[in-house]
Amino acid sequence: MNHFEYRDGELFVEDVPIARIAEQVGTPFYCYSTATLARHYRVLREGLGDLDALICFAVKANSNIALIRTLGLMGAGADVVSEGEMRRALAAGIPPERIVFSGVGKTRAELAMALDTGILQINVESEPELRLLNEMALERGKKAVIGLRVNPDVDAHTHAKITTGRKENKFGIEWTKAPDILRLAHGLPGIQLASIAIHIGSQLTELAPFRAAFLKLRELVESLKKDGIVLPRLDLGGGLGVPYEATRNEMPPLPAEYGALVKEVFGDSGHSLLLEPGRLLVGNAGTLISQVLFVKKGESRNFVICDAAMNDLVRPAMYDAHHDIRAVTEPAAGSDYAPFDVVGPVCETGDTFARQRPLPPLAEGDLIAFATAGAYGATMSSTYNSRPLVPAVLVKGDQFAVVRARPTYEQMFSLESVPEWVEQG
Ligand code: LLP
Repeated sequence: MNHFEYRDGELFVEDVPIARIAEQVGTPFYCYSTATLARHYRVLREGLGDLDALICFAVKANSNIALIRTLGLMGAGADVVSEGEMRRALAAGIPPERIVFSGVGKTRAELAMALDTGILQINVESEPELRLLNEMALERGKKAVIGLRVNPDVDAHTHAKITTGRKENKFGIEWTKAPDILRLAHGLPGIQLASIAIHIGSQLTELAPFRAAFLKLRELVESLKKDGIVLPRLDLGGGLGVPYEATRNEMPPLPAEYGALVKEVFGDSGHSLLLEPGRLLVGNAGTLISQVLFVKKGESRNFVICDAAMNDLVRPAMYDAHHDIRAVTEPAAGSDYAPFDVVGPVCETGDTFARQRPLPPLAEGDLIAFATAGAYGATMSSTYNSRPLVPAVLVKGDQFAVVRARPTYEQMFSLESVPEWVEQG
């Protein structure tokens, strides 16, 4: 459920008409609903019942500080994958003891920052990383608290580019090597092995792959116990999918069903749990608002050309992802829907949001909303074609605020310079 609804013929975000925001902020812009965000966090929290679990929001899905702060105030921690994300989480007031640092390729500087900040755990993904971290911790006279990410070799049945838990993927310690590396980690003097971590992929629409991975993890944990290695917690990763198509019946499992599975497998394991959801929390809490520049009618295709482009929301170009498109002015009852290709101004055919999408009549100047754009929308955007990153607006009830401003061209160019010798020819 989300809080983007038509009222009196106009699309609202909570109690604010989108057209009013567009007038003040200009298009394109991302718009987020606090009520939707909070609801998703609450539903997941409730789904976990009385499990001792910390929900660490995967900041890569949406790194806006106001959103991280909103979740942090509700009790969430953060799952970060770079120094930049760690700094954002800290800037949003997430306490270090609620921060997990994941990622397959961390730099020495990033590991040093994590050690010096004293975060909850660093998820180590390879033997060389483990040995480096051991040395760095010993140099500092401390122990690095780590989770060891293992790769359970489970097919997540999701898009190839976002599946992470097969043995041919770059992530985690290979399953067959995991017991040895876990024992190694347990014995290293600069390492405190606190957790095993898994994450098998993103936008999962079935529970079965989670179940398979969770059961393998449980088995591994039990076998370690027999060797006297008892870990305080387990990190189950993220990955639960969200519905992208309102009109389709395909429904990913509910957070409550996911929570029940977690409870079934780990409820009596004696571990505290970490979860790293990204998309589930923010996906449906965000929309990208754009304005129609032209409607171009051709012999074989009709195009809606809008002012948002692939640099603002790359998911359709990159993963053939579907985002519902709604007219901000509600189509009149009985409107004729016709197929359009919805495209942006970037000079690539890939800059296509939708092909042959049935849409109501649209005209120049009309506003359209790309739904479910809260996850991996703004964070994956770029300035391709020298297009400024689009602003972000956060709504709460009848209030809204720009939580990320549109940069000026001066700001965009300010990091660049022309050396004198260029002038000399
Ligand atoms: N934990 C780890 C270690 C991850 O790699 C990821 C996502 C998550 C948690 C959060 O997964 P989520 O709950 O959001 O599924 N850009 C792609 C998605 C990439 C996901 C990468 N890893 C997209 O737009 O679909």
